[in-house]
Amino acid sequence: MVSLPVSLGEVSTTLSLMWTSRICSLAVVLLVFGLISLSAFYNTLNSTKPAMYKISLDATSATSSHNSFASDSNSSCFCPQSSAKSHGSQRPNHMWEMQSLRHVTVEEAYFQRMRVVDVSQIEQRVVPKQMGSFKSRFLPNDNFMEFPILAMENVCLDPSGALVLVETSTEEIMPNISGLSAIPELYYLWNEIYNCTGNISTDHCVGVTFSESLPPEHSYIPGNTAHFLAYIGNPMHNWAERTWPFVMASSPPIQSTVPYPIHHYIIHRFDKWLYESRWQPDRAQMLWQFRMLMEISGDVSPGYLIVRNQTKPVCFQKLLLQMHSRDRIDETRLPVDIAGAGLKKYREAIFRFFGIPRPPQVRLPPEKLRVLFYGRNDTSRRRVRNSADVINFLRGFTRPRLEVRYLDEMLASGQTNYSFPEVVRLFTQTDILVIAHGANTWATFLLPDGAGVVEIIGPCNWSSYNYTDLSAVHTWMHVNAAACKLKHDLSNPFEEVVPNIERGNTTECLNPYNGVPDYTIDLRKLGDIIHSFAYPDRPGDHLTQHWLYDWDHPPP
Ligand SMILES: *[C@@H]1O[C@H](CO)[C@@H](O)[C@H](O)[C@H]1NC(C)=O
Ligand SMILES: *[C@@H]1O[C@H](CO)[C@@H](O)[C@H](O)[C@H]1NC(C)=O
Ligand SMILES: *[C@@H]1O[C@H](CO)[C@@H](O)[C@H](O)[C@H]1NC(C)=O
Ligand SMILES: *[C@@H]1O[C@H](CO)[C@@H](O)[C@H](O)[C@H]1NC(C)=O
Ligand SMILES: *[C@@H]1O[C@H](CO)[C@@H](O)[C@H](O)[C@H]1NC(C)=O
Ligand SMILES: *[C@@H]1O[C@H](CO)[C@@H](O)[C@H](O)[C@H]1NC(C)=O
Ligand SMILES: *[C@@H]1O[C@H](CO)[C@@H](O)[C@H](O)[C@H]1NC(C)=O
Ligand SMILES: *[C@@H]1O[C@H](CO)[C@@H](O)[C@H](O)[C@H]1NC(C)=O
Ligand SMILES: *[C@@H]1O[C@H](CO)[C@@H](O)[C@H](O)[C@H]1NC(C)=O
Ligand SMILES: *[C@@H]1O[C@H](CO)[C@@H](O)[C@H](O)[C@H]1NC(C)=O
Repeated sequence: MVSLPVSLGEVSTTLSLMWTSRICSLAVVLLVFGLISLSAFYNTLNSTKPAMYKISLDATSATSSHNSFASDSNSSCFCPQSSAKSHGSQRPNHMWEMQSLRHVTVEEAYFQRMRVVDVSQIEQRVVPKQMGSFKSRFLPNDNFMEFPILAMENVCLDPSGALVLVETSTEEIMPNISGLSAIPELYYLWNEIYNCTGNISTDHCVGVTFSESLPPEHSYIPGNTAHFLAYIGNPMHNWAERTWPFVMASSPPIQSTVPYPIHHYIIHRFDKWLYESRWQPDRAQMLWQFRMLMEISGDVSPGYLIVRNQTKPVCFQKLLLQMHSRDRIDETRLPVDIAGAGLKKYREAIFRFFGIPRPPQVRLPPEKLRVLFYGRNDTSRRRVRNSADVINFLRGFTRPRLEVRYLDEMLASGQTNYSFPEVVRLFTQTDILVIAHGANTWATFLLPDGAGVVEIIGPCNWSSYNYTDLSAVHTWMHVNAAACKLKHDLSNPFEEVVPNIERGNTTECLNPYNGVPDYTIDLRKLGDIIHSFAYPDRPGDHLTQHWLYDWDHPPP
């Protein structure tokens, strides 16, 4: 049986935990590791008086500790012989072929090392007499981003996964819920995700119920637990809106300064999407993303929790609710110098896991620059309509010489797919990415340091962003670009607006879903951008390292 290791700080004063005599090895690991790191962690908190990230951090401390890959132990690395290559002075190889990554199935990756806890194994209970009242209430939570109400205390999840509010009523919590209406989108998300009155399918919606007292036969999870809802439908958004906020809350510098650092995760209806997902790639992508989250949170969190095949209620000291799209990665919500540290840690965990020499390098002459082009042909809007011309144009480039991969074609032919290892393989071996703006840009943090990205927004200006000043378009690309020192071109070289029959057949931009035209790319402008990446003509206007070389007269 498993007892979760939280008996410190305020928790121990209010709770008495029932420890069981049968402790499996998992629990020992959890316990020892957990208590050590948790006490170290609490000591840090106590000694430094946690302050909000906004005021307590400077950029140096935020980044310096994450620059050294060598200091990481290998314990979490599969370190395949075939791909654990040295780097540095070694010549990149001339082959067109991409280096492959060792094949690891998502099941192997996910279950090999992770601390998965079956809720039926958790014997801890709240002892009502000592606890006094177990009454649900909202807590202010400034963990990340902009909204104050994202956490609750003394709540449970029933076996269906629904949120159980204890010793309270709709009337009592309504002022707080209505308070959310001051932020319409957050109010919408509460209703959509938790109250199930939105349009989201019931498979995804959590549901809210009330209970007059603690449900009998519950298990109790002390500490702070993050409620993780998988994003079924678009695994790219799973990164931006689900995984990302937890990357931040699991990583220094934020992890040690937020009011509710994450101790555990609980994945909503884990088994349901694990065993019943209709679309397997979704399931795999989320497992991978979550696994990588595990990789980085191992340093700081005492325990991970995945409730599997839940048959009884599980109650929480504090549950951090998921208000996904409002916690989206965006540098206006979290400064890049802070967010970049968490992002780099996550990136490094991925490289380490796949045994990729770090950091992946932008190719140097006489190698051709590796260009990956993606025109969204497999989507239904904002597609590049002259992709064949773009590809021919790029393949004909001589200054510099390019090695061009056409992602749309590779996907269509089954040469690659969007599986996590494939995305890692593609992006770590790309020097210049030419990509139509969209969710797929999430993976740009996997590009080599100093790679170039031409992000083409196209003709449409709508969205919550202010597109008047394209340099101020707030996408996760800004965070990725700053963290990985990417050269990010937002000059938007689209040419003609092409009506899209499937989306209203108009050249106007009506709304993000319909009336969304396609477009063509201006080849001359694209050529200028690539040229400017490779040949510096003003400071900073080149791919990292390329200024060292004369591309027309490369060293023999
Ligand atoms: C890391 O891996 C290398 C090569 O497999 C091994 O020699 C070394 O002992 C490992 N280090 C740790 C800390 O496990
Ligand atoms: C409402 O929210 C405030 C914090 O914003 C909190 O102090 C109060 O306890 C909450 N009430 C309920 C019933 O959740
Ligand atoms: C859920 O939505 C319904 C319908 O709008 C509303 O009557 C009810 O009070 C809401 N409950 C909660 C807990 O938000
Ligand atoms: C649900 O969808 C309908 C039809 O698409 C729309 O009119 C309505 O505004 C949506 N409701 C919410 C809460 O988004
Ligand atoms: C993607 O391709 C890899 C091989 O590179 C394969 O192992 C995996 O099953 C594929 N995934 C999907 C979802 O097709
Ligand atoms: C959970 O249930 C599924 C079938 O519904 C089963 O295949 C799986 O082994 C169960 N997992 C655990 C950890 O019991
Ligand atoms: C682009 O999509 C269209 C329609 O789905 C398809 O006919 C065409 O072959 C695709 N082109 C590429 C290069 O994948
Ligand atoms: C966006 O809108 C502004 C003002 O309406 C316009 O000047 C600009 O060209 C539009 N397009 C883009 C891509 O910014
Ligand atoms: C959009 O950005 C432009 C240029 O920075 C600025 O002048 C304008 O006020 C902004 N508009 C909004 C609605 O924020
Ligand atoms: C789509 O719009 C174009 C003009 O932009 C028009 O020529 C064409 O007939 C339209 N197609 C359909 C199916 O409405």
